[in-house]
Amino acid sequence: MNILAIETSCDETSLAILSAIETENGTDFVVYAHNTLSQIDIHAQYGGVFPNLAKREHAKNLVPLLEVTLREAKMYKQTFDITKEEIGSDISCRLQENNEILKKLLEHEPELYEVLMVFLPTIRKPNIDMIVVTHGPGLEPALWVGVNFAQALSFVWNIPVIPVNHMEGHIVSASIHGNNFSIDKSKKIFPMLALLISGGHTELVITHAWGEYEKIGQTLDDAVGEAYDKVARLLGLPYPGGPKISQLAETYFYSLPEVRKYDKKIQFFPRPMIKSDNYDFSFSGLKSAVRRYVETTHPDLLNREQVAYEFQEAVTDVLVEKTRKALKNYNIPTLAIAGGVAANKRIRSACESLIKEEFHNTNIMIADMSLTGDNALMIGVAGYLSFLAKKSNLKNDSPLLANGNLSL
Ligand code: KG4
Ligand code: ZN
Repeated sequence: MNILAIETSCDETSLAILSAIETENGTDFVVYAHNTLSQIDIHAQYGGVFPNLAKREHAKNLVPLLEVTLREAKMYKQTFDITKEEIGSDISCRLQENNEILKKLLEHEPELYEVLMVFLPTIRKPNIDMIVVTHGPGLEPALWVGVNFAQALSFVWNIPVIPVNHMEGHIVSASIHGNNFSIDKSKKIFPMLALLISGGHTELVITHAWGEYEKIGQTLDDAVGEAYDKVARLLGLPYPGGPKISQLAETYFYSLPEVRKYDKKIQFFPRPMIKSDNYDFSFSGLKSAVRRYVETTHPDLLNREQVAYEFQEAVTDVLVEKTRKALKNYNIPTLAIAGGVAANKRIRSACESLIKEEFHNTNIMIADMSLTGDNALMIGVAGYLSFLAKKSNLKNDSPLLANGNLSL
């Protein structure tokens, strides 16, 4: 089965084309094309992501990105290649006859409608069997562009579209490696504990089987990536703050004398909720502690590298402790770590050490660096797995809705 996946939940416009083949143990996937356009440079000017700006950029990017992705997947065939017999099913007829329906589908994205109506008649229907699109959680205006685009393509090409939860995509991303990979569906990998850490979420989720999720903990206020971004702003660093804080922290770590490097006794900033009897998180108190410290320290004495380091140590301690607690209380053969913040070297290595030192029967899977951020590949794989799990009959009867607050 060939799948076109669409992701527009935040500030990355991403498309992927992949194939899925069932085997005895699971599914073999082949990635034909995967392209992501980041809007970071645009949003960086404003210090954060603006939903309506993100929506406009997605609408502008989707058709050019579709062309590039179809070409890369060798599925781009122009209509002048069509033989006489095929002209009867020509897409331009379908477009002309159904122009009003398409116009209505894309009524909130008029510029996307215009470009799509110029582009679609020039190509043949690609060899795609199913469209998968993120319908939440995320920024609602941004989500709607992807959802409406998916519905328009689904209508024109007469193929089904299935919605997928963005967080399900992040969970699955930890199992994706390279362009040819297999996803196990045997019982031995479940239950899988997922630590999901991004700009919008901090969650501990138990996956009992693909498509079957139980959220056991989440942040009560700021997400961990959000805390990185806010602390970065306090330190006068540009958006997104995560990578910058991580660099400063690393520089400070290497400047420390050996005896101090692993000294757990010194806790410069608080570790919120580290001892609470649940799997929830809270990062806003930590951010406030950093703010107080920055505001009460003379600028000449403020060591930004040290603040970044101490903040990152506090975050890492909390993430590791909550993960440890969950691993201890559930019998977990697999730990998956994913989301934008999973790109953080310190957090990656602290989680690896936790498994190596304390949980010898647990296998750790951390998303590849290229897949920690938002991407359509993880959406395509998650969509296919949840389609298999729910055994949907791929009917195209109810309209899709975007939901910014969608939960697992
Ligand atoms: O998953 P993602 O790309 O988008 C959301 O769905 O939120 O995550 C973006 C977040 C941002 O807050 C960014 O600062 C953070 O991930 N981030 C990092 C690192 N790289 C990105 N945080 C810590 N260390 C990093 N190396
Ligand atoms: Zn995300």
